[in-house]
Amino acid sequence: MYRTHNCGELSQANIGLKVKLSGWVQTNRDFGGMTFVDLRDRYGITQLVFNSETHPELSEKARKLGREFVLMVEGTVAERSNKNPKLSTGDIEIMVSSMNILNPSLTPPFTIEDESDGGDELRMKYRYLDLRRNPLQRNLMLRHRVNSEARIYLSQQGFIEVETPFLIKSTPEGARDFVVPSRMNAGQFYALPQSPQTFKQLLMVSGYDKYFQMVKCFRDEDLRADRQPEFSQIDCEMSFVTRDDVLNTFEGLAKHLFKTVVDVNFDNVPHMSYADAMYNYGSDKPDIRFGMKFVYLDDIVKGQGFNVFDSAESVIGVKAQGCASYTRKELDKLIEFVKRPQVGAKGLVYVKHNEDGTFKSSVDKFYDNEKLKSWGEKFDSKPGDLLLILAGDTEKTQTALNVLRLEMGERMGLRKADDFSLLWIVDFPLLEWSEDDERWVARHHPFTRPLEEDLHLIDSEPGKVRAAAYDLVLNGNEIAGGSIRIHERDLQEKMFEVLGLSEEEAEEKFGFLMGALQYGAPPHGGIAFGFDRLVALMGGSESIRDYIAFPKNNSGRDVMIDAPSPLDKDQLDELSLEVKKRESVQP
Ligand code: AMO
Repeated sequence: MYRTHNCGELSQANIGLKVKLSGWVQTNRDFGGMTFVDLRDRYGITQLVFNSETHPELSEKARKLGREFVLMVEGTVAERSNKNPKLSTGDIEIMVSSMNILNPSLTPPFTIEDESDGGDELRMKYRYLDLRRNPLQRNLMLRHRVNSEARIYLSQQGFIEVETPFLIKSTPEGARDFVVPSRMNAGQFYALPQSPQTFKQLLMVSGYDKYFQMVKCFRDEDLRADRQPEFSQIDCEMSFVTRDDVLNTFEGLAKHLFKTVVDVNFDNVPHMSYADAMYNYGSDKPDIRFGMKFVYLDDIVKGQGFNVFDSAESVIGVKAQGCASYTRKELDKLIEFVKRPQVGAKGLVYVKHNEDGTFKSSVDKFYDNEKLKSWGEKFDSKPGDLLLILAGDTEKTQTALNVLRLEMGERMGLRKADDFSLLWIVDFPLLEWSEDDERWVARHHPFTRPLEEDLHLIDSEPGKVRAAAYDLVLNGNEIAGGSIRIHERDLQEKMFEVLGLSEEEAEEKFGFLMGALQYGAPPHGGIAFGFDRLVALMGGSESIRDYIAFPKNNSGRDVMIDAPSPLDKDQLDELSLEVKKRESVQP
């Protein structure tokens, strides 16, 4: 009824054919005798021609068509004299013989083009129009392809998809829960899952062996470019597996997705311990597409009267190849950059390895050329290189130098969006100390298994215990995380004790899981991919928003439907809720 073809498929092979097309008006150009309308759908754009000599009334109607009107036209495919090689349909046009305006449109508040003139807020408010734009359509189609290929791979590997509930009891995994009041149980609340973690473990107890789910997760945390309050995971769990079984299976998934969706092939993915990652890159998700490993300088820079280095716990630097030509102004900018609170360094020492082989530094007062030469040897620097050095508390310095390294990598063009590199980080610490709560908290989650060989340290030096936990890192972004789990009640109880939960609290919060562990829980482990992040990175972006059809803005709002919003009094009463007036919390 509406179309014989879509707007992206007609070519020279169809010349002379009578066709029917439906779509949206992209542009309307009136050349007196001829009116040209570009008709668009998600498959492409086809040029329509209205001839005022042969079809005067139709032509008159066409002249008045506004952008985004919805049309159905009939006509004949003709060869274009003025071909457009940029369009798949650029060799042809449709000589229109009849037209039906299926629905007029108001003038859209921004242009529906690859580069729109609409600002962020406006595009979010009219997201349904924004989603008509090519880049977003490409993103959502990419998302669909990754989703289908993930299902294909996992099904082929024997995984079955099982849905787990969204109205659950809160399982603390680091972030705050979104909660849902229960009408039938006054004063009681469900929580939306931060992940299906406990349910997938229960499915292993039930014998499902290999589970997966493309699933929504909800976390009430501060938002960033790579975080949304509701996001999706490819969530997986397997029974009777070692860590390496899990890593191999999901390395296979990552390779399958890259090969089938973007035609990128990977060799075996390297493994790096958390300790090595922190030592060499100051990050648990290093971007290893470029070198610039950290160089530790304490033994050669201390004791020469330069107090900043003498009093520092660590003096660490990176070599920026070919950057000795940086001007004073550029270096000052770098110093400002590292001093920003987000980076947190107190200052930056630089050394230029000049083209003539001499050295010039910002600390010439304390170190002569011979000394600086020995630094250069430590960095293996060549004439033309620039050495950038930070000093202070070891962890803080590593973290700040990581940011500087990434910034330099960016400036030096070493971080290309279409150059992909995968890396496993393994042997994470099991616990980390929370200054706020003054107790140990699980670094991954409380169900993660400690490494057998470190178990004896759990009481004496809990901070030293490593976990059978792993992350998959893509170009410096964490795209998946998982672990082998605790499957014995005793060990799970011990873990809760270390985390400072009383027996009663553990029973109240996790009694269901500890009960299940007593009924033949098999050894098991799994992983969850951040689906939005994976898709965004495959599409060349570190921001996930434009890979989600209807995302929230940075304050967690959906400005299109205007949520969250207040409830009326009746609804509140029914839920036995009373709302105290208070300012909304700014993240
Ligand atoms: P984790 O908390 O590491 O593990 O989450 C897994 C992956 O999900 C992605 N991710 C997010 N993506 C977008 N927005 C967010 N707010 C967000 N938070 C996390 C990341 C991350 O690597 N249950 C465990 C998995 C397991 O142990 O099997 C879990 O959820 O890419």
